Amino acid sequence: MAQAPLKVAVVGCGNIGNRHAAGYLATGKTELVGVADPVKDRADGYAAKYGSTAYGSAKELLAEQQPDLVSVPTPPGSHAEVALEVLATGASVLLEKPPVLNLAEMDALAEAEAANGGSVYVIFQHRHGSGAQRAHRLLSAGDLGTPRVAVCETLWFRPRSYFDPDWRGTWVGEGGGPTLGHGIHQVDLLLHLLGPWKTLTATAVRLDRPVQFEDVSLATVIFESGAVGTVINSLLSPDELSRIRIDTDGGSLEVDHLYGYSDADWKFHPAPDAARAATFGLNPGERGADGSASVAATDPWTASAGEDAPSNHQAQISRLVDDLLAGRTHETTLASTRPTMEFVSALYASALTGSPVDRADLVPGHPFYAALNGGVGQDAIDKAMIIT
Ligand SMILES: NC(=O)c1ccc[n+]([C@@H]2O[C@H](COP(=O)([O-])OP(=O)(O)OC[C@H]3O[C@@H](n4cnc5c(N)ncnc54)[C@H](O)[C@@H]3O)[C@@H](O)[C@H]2O)c1
Repeated sequence: MAQAPLKVAVVGCGNIGNRHAAGYLATGKTELVGVADPVKDRADGYAAKYGSTAYGSAKELLAEQQPDLVSVPTPPGSHAEVALEVLATGASVLLEKPPVLNLAEMDALAEAEAANGGSVYVIFQHRHGSGAQRAHRLLSAGDLGTPRVAVCETLWFRPRSYFDPDWRGTWVGEGGGPTLGHGIHQVDLLLHLLGPWKTLTATAVRLDRPVQFEDVSLATVIFESGAVGTVINSLLSPDELSRIRIDTDGGSLEVDHLYGYSDADWKFHPAPDAARAATFGLNPGERGADGSASVAATDPWTASAGEDAPSNHQAQISRLVDDLLAGRTHETTLASTRPTMEFVSALYASALTGSPVDRADLVPGHPFYAALNGGVGQDAIDKAMIIT
């Protein structure tokens, strides 16, 4: 007997909502029972385009339909509120990044998950391409060596006009700058690959854009493993780039892309084989004329190559639908994204207080637990972030 489709709904019929609706349809394993947006034309447009019923809000949709899973690609400031409404019905939620605006919201959602039976998952599509899946597997098994040094760069460009919509550029609507809204993809992948961080020290500055927060942030981070790294998030970089590099004692692993990678964007440079190099009379870092003296012919990265699955919404949504239909927990749970939100919270805390922040400090009662601006007044934020 054919399996019943997963009943899904999309709340938020804007730009990214299309990737959710199209992603579900492409699986051929879902029924889109409703779409909702307070802007009627948008909900009607989605209903016509994807074959569903339009509603004006999550509440209206949930009063008539019983979805198993509800996507929430609304502006970040509304994620927690909508997710709580969905969880109260017992359904599960797929939140867009950033999942929430602060750790207090994240813990409220975790409590609602525990109380109602539904689960919260988060779109971090870059965990789901074949490159990251391989990197995670090999690094976790120690097959690429012990990580020592990491570099994580989100050098993007958003013109001043990007901040025209009311919700952008404000702590209330957007929640934060590139640290929260843009670099979070790369930071999440870095933490997914390297494990928990321990301490960070950061700077956040507003150099040009009409926002209440930063347009560039920088952090140095120490991981629990003892590895160290640097992170930069910028919206002022015309030649855009997203890059993570992890140097282990076995080699350098690097992914270099923009908004999504395929296998060709990953490369691994094995550490020089010191013993072989010595027999050629070379320094370990040098190559012989044929390039073979210091670099092994095959390495764990090259040997693990398989099917190339690019990182995009489709990759994660297909996996999520399969997991839920099979009764499995999907890998990108809300809880698995907590270290990422802790990193973001700590970056603002360190930048605005001028002191290093330990992950262990970010408990209820810490000023940056309940708000990424730490309750600091806007004048003081401006003073801290604007270089004079
Ligand atoms: N994963 C990614 O690569 C990626 C890329 C861009 C944006 N995003 C995220 O997707 C989300 C949406 O971004 P967007 O660019 O599509 O924004 P958008 O403004 O194009 O769309 C948001 C839609 O949500 C609707 N909306 C607002 N409040 C609502 C509510 N309470 N209930 C129902 N609908 C509501 C708006 O009317 C609008 O149609 C954000 O969280 C953003 O950070 C993710």
